[in-house]
Amino acid sequence: MSRSQKFLDRSSIRIAAAVLPMLIGGSVLAQGPEPEFDHTATRFVLTGSHEDVPCEGCHGLGVFAGTPTDCSFCHDGSGIRAESGKPLDHVPTNNRCEDCHTSNTWEQIRFDHIAAIGSCASCHNGSGATGKPFDHIITNADCDVCHNTIVWDSVRFDHATVTEPCSTCHNGMEATGKPNGHIQTTAECDQCHTTRAWSPAFFDHSNVTEPCSNCHNGNEATGKPNGHFITNQECDMCHTTNAWDPDTFRHASPNYPGDHRRNLDCRACHPGNSEMVVYTDDPSLAPDCAGCHRNDYRTGPHKKHENPDVNYTVQELRDCTGSCHVYEDATLSQIKDTRNREHRVSDSDFD
Ligand code: HEC
Ligand code: HEC
Ligand code: HEC
Ligand code: HEC
Ligand code: HEC
Ligand code: HEC
Ligand code: HEC
Ligand code: HEC
Ligand code: HEC
Ligand code: HEC
Ligand code: HEC
Repeated sequence: MSRSQKFLDRSSIRIAAAVLPMLIGGSVLAQGPEPEFDHTATRFVLTGSHEDVPCEGCHGLGVFAGTPTDCSFCHDGSGIRAESGKPLDHVPTNNRCEDCHTSNTWEQIRFDHIAAIGSCASCHNGSGATGKPFDHIITNADCDVCHNTIVWDSVRFDHATVTEPCSTCHNGMEATGKPNGHIQTTAECDQCHTTRAWSPAFFDHSNVTEPCSNCHNGNEATGKPNGHFITNQECDMCHTTNAWDPDTFRHASPNYPGDHRRNLDCRACHPGNSEMVVYTDDPSLAPDCAGCHRNDYRTGPHKKHENPDVNYTVQELRDCTGSCHVYEDATLSQIKDTRNREHRVSDSDFD
């Protein structure tokens, strides 16, 4: 039997029960209200589904005066007055029905927590009021340790009195743990995190003795990003612990020509983005300037001696600093002219 059928059947019994005394007493009918009785005149306005309930549903035996207005008086689960009452699996609560329900439908809930009796979990167990979703962190603490009564998805916890190590709670069970893909570390959380937020992580390097790359391998801590200069050198050859950008690399090799005027990209000389240097113009002239600048060499302006006129070769001036004296003749014994060092690595061109 469906609920509405049951309702109809019970209604007809009630109508019979209400009509019977009227027939016997006669006077009851005379004292009774008009069929268009304005119920708003009473303390109990008929709203929602109550508008469709026949008078006898609430005024059995034709009794009108003194009908209690408490929802639970009629919806007491006994079925004597109202059919509907708290189902067995109802949220365990001693609160008044009207704290959570209206006469519209039982399914629609509104709830003012000011009136709430009992622990949060006594209601928020998933059978009545919202409970923990199944992927919730595992905890036996009552909901209000971490939640307020307004929204579930803003979680907070007061760490002020916490003395245990972070990881006793932050193990993914009692409280947020390390997410998948977290850098691998067995160190306590507060070595890298504060209680305010997980991101950004920080780290105090002052007592660090190990090589940077022990941690900075992309696993334990930030490693080299994609496209990084290919090198096996320790990070601190080019970086400090303050920041990765800018790098602090300074060439040490005597083969390095010195810093050019322009801040050349590493790839200008290390085309493979690795330590290997490519002397683009003439590897046989490496490591001198001409190894990269042979094609910039113009023989004309580089006279070696007169009688007869002979010019220097690029090999002779390969490092741009070689003697560029101009001699009287092929014996090279008499200097005719002296030029200052013409080209520096810091110059803007070779003119
Ligand atoms: C859902 C329940 C419900 C239904 C349906 C209902 N009533 Fe009532 N009625 C009450 C309650 C509760 C009171 C008491 C209100 C109060 O004390 O002011 C009441 C009060 C009254 C009173 C005032 C009695 C007095 O002297 O204080 C009259 C008359 C009355 N109802 C008539 C009707 C009639 C006629 C109908 C049908 C058209 C009807 N009621 C339908 C619940 C209901
Ligand atoms: C005087 C008796 C009475 C009082 C008081 C009363 N109700 Fe009802 N109510 C009924 C009757 C009778 C029905 C008809 C359906 C039934 O029997 O369950 C009904 C129906 C309902 C329904 C619809 C049930 C359904 O199955 O569709 C809701 C919801 C409801 N009442 C909520 C309330 C709430 C909330 C209160 C308190 C604010 C309240 N009622 C107070 C007698 C009462
Ligand atoms: C603290 C809030 C609260 C109080 C107080 C409360 N209820 Fe409920 N009730 C709920 C919640 C939550 C549900 C589940 C609603 C759902 O399933 O959508 C529920 C469900 C119901 C249902 C079943 C609805 C359905 O069909 O699934 C009925 C009937 C009901 N309550 C009746 C009552 C009655 C009668 C009272 C008072 C004696 C009462 N409730 C008091 C919160 C409350
Ligand atoms: C008497 C039962 C009861 C108690 C005790 C209770 N609640 Fe609720 N709470 C409800 C009902 C009923 C609702 C509305 C239905 C729902 O969202 O499940 C609700 C809703 C909520 C919501 C959702 C609010 C929204 O509008 O989305 C939060 C959050 C909440 N309660 C937190 C708590 C916390 C925290 C506690 C303990 C301090 C607590 N509740 C105690 C019954 C209760
Ligand atoms: C130890 C702290 C803690 C306790 C105790 C706790 N929760 Fe949570 N809860 C969380 C955290 C953390 C989240 C995830 C928050 C997020 O996703 O924003 C969460 C998420 C939720 C969510 C999903 C929120 C959303 O919209 O994503 C619900 C619902 C919830 N908790 C209900 C409960 C209930 C009910 C209780 C008590 C029975 C409870 N929680 C106890 C920490 C806690
Ligand atoms: C007694 C248990 C406990 C201990 C110990 C603990 N926490 Fe928490 N912490 C929580 C709970 C519960 C939350 C709220 C739920 C969550 O976010 O997991 C939380 C939240 C956090 C948050 C998120 C804050 C936010 O608002 O997003 C951070 C960060 C955090 N804790 C860091 C720490 C650190 C660092 C330590 C160690 C110094 C620590 N916690 C110790 C229980 C604890
Ligand atoms: C050695 C340092 C280190 C330790 C120890 C450490 N973390 Fe982390 N954690 C990181 C780094 C680095 C990140 C990612 C960087 C970021 O998001 O700022 C991170 C990210 C996280 C995140 C994600 C933050 C986000 O919003 O993306 C969580 C949650 C977290 N850690 C929890 C923990 C917990 C819980 C512990 C202790 C059990 C812990 N961590 C221990 C360094 C550490
Ligand atoms: C014991 C492990 C460890 C060692 C060794 C270590 N670091 Fe770190 N370092 C970390 C962790 C953890 C962080 C914070 C998480 C992150 O940014 O990866 C960090 C952060 C950094 C940062 C980012 C700072 C910021 O605020 O953005 C730089 C730069 C850095 N380290 C450089 C170095 C250099 C250079 C060395 C070697 C001298 C070094 N680290 C050695 C663990 C280490
Ligand atoms: C030979 C020098 C050199 C070495 C060694 C080196 N780096 Fe770098 N790194 C660079 C240069 C050059 C850049 C790009 C310049 C820039 O953006 O300031 C860079 C950029 C980075 C960046 C990106 C900075 C940013 O925010 O753009 C990170 C992170 C980084 N290096 C980490 C590392 C780590 C970790 C190591 C050790 C495992 C390491 N580096 C070793 C030269 C080096
Ligand atoms: C003007 C050309 C030029 C530029 C630009 C340049 N390098 Fe070099 N680099 C060299 C030469 C030449 C050598 C020495 C090769 C040898 O020793 O044979 C060298 C050597 C190195 C070495 C080996 C260690 C050392 O100090 O000798 C590293 C590491 C290196 N360069 C990194 C870089 C990085 C990182 C950049 C960009 C920030 C860069 N270089 C830019 C020319 C250049
Ligand atoms: C490993 C290769 C290499 C070596 C060795 C080298 N250079 Fe350069 N030099 C370059 C590159 C690359 C440029 C950028 C010009 C270009 O884009 O073609 C450049 C540009 C210049 C310029 C033009 C100014 C400018 O910034 O564009 C001068 C002047 C110069 N180099 C002088 C020298 C001198 C002097 C030496 C020897 C002390 C020298 N270079 C050694 C690679 C090299």
